[in-house]
Amino acid sequence: MTYPGMRDLKLKEETLFEVSRPGRKGYSLPVEDLADAEKILPEGLLRKDLDLPELSEIDVARHYTRLSTYNFSIDHGFYPLGSCTMKYNPKINEKMARDPMFSNLHPETPVEFAQGTLKLMYDMQKMLSEIGGFAATTLNPSAGAHGEYVGLGVIRSYFKKKGDTKRTKIIIPDSAHGTNPASCTLNGFDVVVLESNDAGKVCVDCLKGMLNDEVAGIMLTNPNTLGVFESDILEITKAVHDAGGLVYGDGANMNAILGIARPGDMGIDVLHYNLHKTFSTPHGGGGPGSGPVGVCEKLVEFLPNPFVVKEGDTYKFANSDLSMGMVRSFYGNMGITLRAYVYILEYGKQYISDIAKNAVLNANYIKACLKDYFHLKYKSDTLHEVVFDDSEMPNHVTTMDLAKGLIDRGFHPPTVYFPLIVHGAIMIEPTETESKETLDSFIEAMIDIVNTAKTNPENLLKAPLNTAISRPDETLAARKPVLKYCPNAD
Ligand SMILES: Cc1ncc(COP(=O)(O)O)c(C=O)c1O
Repeated sequence: MTYPGMRDLKLKEETLFEVSRPGRKGYSLPVEDLADAEKILPEGLLRKDLDLPELSEIDVARHYTRLSTYNFSIDHGFYPLGSCTMKYNPKINEKMARDPMFSNLHPETPVEFAQGTLKLMYDMQKMLSEIGGFAATTLNPSAGAHGEYVGLGVIRSYFKKKGDTKRTKIIIPDSAHGTNPASCTLNGFDVVVLESNDAGKVCVDCLKGMLNDEVAGIMLTNPNTLGVFESDILEITKAVHDAGGLVYGDGANMNAILGIARPGDMGIDVLHYNLHKTFSTPHGGGGPGSGPVGVCEKLVEFLPNPFVVKEGDTYKFANSDLSMGMVRSFYGNMGITLRAYVYILEYGKQYISDIAKNAVLNANYIKACLKDYFHLKYKSDTLHEVVFDDSEMPNHVTTMDLAKGLIDRGFHPPTVYFPLIVHGAIMIEPTETESKETLDSFIEAMIDIVNTAKTNPENLLKAPLNTAISRPDETLAARKPVLKYCPNAD
């Protein structure tokens, strides 16, 4: 069977040192300019040898171009990572972000010469506030996790102003993303874990039993990381507010409700967006990203400094005395803001809900086609993603084997072993940008893996078979990465 993204990456790549041939050159410099170099340069700076590879320009160009194709990317094939929302990054976003009118603007440019960019930021603050149902939004944070840190900082500043130093606990459901407890801890809060019920949702009675005057709030992802909408959200937010706490919304899953429901209307006081998930900006290798934070009226004064305001027809930066402080240099990752701004305008107010509708439709199509082949721990209806597990895989083939088998079939694996409340989780999120044909070929590959697990499990235990490296020791690779060339290493 062949699939659209399949490729053979078995060949072991030669390093540039191995490709090197004595005397081969990729440059030409006028000899006379170099003649006196030895006389001009100080003795201490002159090298006797320099062990660099000797290569022609075409060797170098081909080497790096080939290496670049070894990375899997959203432009290459389907990337069904659940919770990470790997949607296509439209090229129009890139074109606008590269427009020299924006990209050449120095961050220290006086505001009177940066009015266009400031207007864009101001409008983006407004658009995101409207989308989320908030009074104000900061574009400062550099990622979702950074947004969480900022949101929790806002909550901390709010209670500090009130002189309420007793509220040191934040309740977090056990289905939450790992960054949630980390953000609490970094803000000096203690985390209290709330167990999910059999439907994979927050147990409201358990929550009510945990609320008291030591609780600063709850951190809730809605829909949660199982893709299940917390349908008791109004009761949850009311209970937390009645107990004097605040509700933090992890907006990483906004893709499921964009243009349809607003977190602010559900009683969420502060929420971060992940622009790369919801608004199609690139994930990058750890950044730069963007995690804007929206807040309700009573939290506006605590947002990070600075923010963009409009006075008459002029845009400028302003600061609040009660702000939690500055959280990064300058003002957010402008190139990312710009890409997301373009994505929002591409849909416009009238069609923005198509994003959520198609994301939910695609996820439910996959769920319907695969539910007879994979076990579903939680039977609740789901929105933009679905979490299967490996408990019914034939011949003890695991989630990891399935992930590796998908690589051989030309697909990026889904998110594996997360959320932690599903043992052997296989978390699939197709997003709105994939066609039915792509989903069908992915479904076919998943079913092919189940059949292979029945008839030839050895094949999956050894997968991936089409890559230069098969199964590295992942712990060793993460803890002791070998990042430099060792000529005699294996
Ligand atoms: C539910 C949830 N919250 C928070 C985050 C953290 O966001 P970021 O990767 O932008 O730091 C993620 C990332 O995958 C997530 O899925």
